[in-house]
Amino acid sequence: MIDLPDFPWDRLTPLKELAGSHPEGIVDLSVGTPVDPVPALVRQALADASDSPGYPLTHGTERLRAAAAGWLRRRHGVTVDQADVLPLIGSKELVAWLPTLLGVGPGQRVVFPELAYPTYDVGARLAGAEPYATDGLLSLGPERVPLVWVNSPSNPTGKVLPAEHLRKVVAWARERGAVIASDECYIELGWEERPVSILHPDVCGGSHEGLLAVHSLSKRSNLAGYRAGFVTGDPALVRRLLEVRKHAGMIVPGPVQAAAAAALDDDGHADEQRARYAARRAALRPALEAAGWKIDHSVAGLYLWASNGADCWSQVRELAEKGILAAPGDFYGPAGASHVRIAVTATDERISAAVRRLQ
Ligand SMILES: Cc1ncc(COP(=O)(O)O)c(C=O)c1O
Repeated sequence: MIDLPDFPWDRLTPLKELAGSHPEGIVDLSVGTPVDPVPALVRQALADASDSPGYPLTHGTERLRAAAAGWLRRRHGVTVDQADVLPLIGSKELVAWLPTLLGVGPGQRVVFPELAYPTYDVGARLAGAEPYATDGLLSLGPERVPLVWVNSPSNPTGKVLPAEHLRKVVAWARERGAVIASDECYIELGWEERPVSILHPDVCGGSHEGLLAVHSLSKRSNLAGYRAGFVTGDPALVRRLLEVRKHAGMIVPGPVQAAAAAALDDDGHADEQRARYAARRAALRPALEAAGWKIDHSVAGLYLWASNGADCWSQVRELAEKGILAAPGDFYGPAGASHVRIAVTATDERISAAVRRLQ
């Protein structure tokens, strides 16, 4: 049996019931799941591609790969060859399987941030490798590690790693032959700071050697239900991943590939969605502050990383008594024990309800 952690959300069920007992219903801000409509042009592209009897390509259609490369160039100043784009069945799939796909295994450490999306740890365990959470690569000493995850903007903290910091991580990894996988699923959601990709020339000096950037359409385009993302970067690494993924049947359905291409080609819907989140964040943040919560980091992404100084589970309870459900910070690592993560992914009506309840 693989030693996996308990699925943390199950521990939240009693507090979810408490929040649900509020007479005006729960405001669930514990998960980052999109609630706004799938853009019409994306639904149309899915429908138009629905007559799809044959097997899709694991490498994806040229149309999808060109759209992904075009989006990276247009929005993020990153140039990749479309041959080096590989579609994903949502980015969580790659986070969970990348160590395995790269052949990382027992006796090796997979490194990820101290406060992090739990699936980096799971991916290390699925490969039989050792999960290692640290924000200080120097703590590894001279040890060679095969894989380092970075995540900017961060889930859960909303922190952005500046280009200078990322440059140092790249230099460190290149000296030791480590692969850096950069989870960039919130890259379009910078507020006070602008996130930069690991593949940007200011970070990597123009060479993508040893680097992978992982992207998701879930948040940008409200496509969490479609399962659509992609990975790109070092051509040799992408080729290796493609070979294994072909054998393993890790194929994005054809209609979803068509929908993802339409989403990546269009910026209008993403700008509209960004504006919705900006407004919700602008309403919720001062309401939390007025109620005694301090917001740390949170300069990008979909979460407010908040603390009123108490233990995270007491804070979750305090909010649940007002009918608001937040995620306890210790879901993301012991360093989160005095924070809660509050998502801005609820409808305008529910965010207004939360603001009223905090007053
Ligand atoms: C940091 C991070 N990475 C990856 C994912 C997975 O996203 P998806 O599988 O929908 O692309 C999430 C989802 O919330 C996330 O927060």
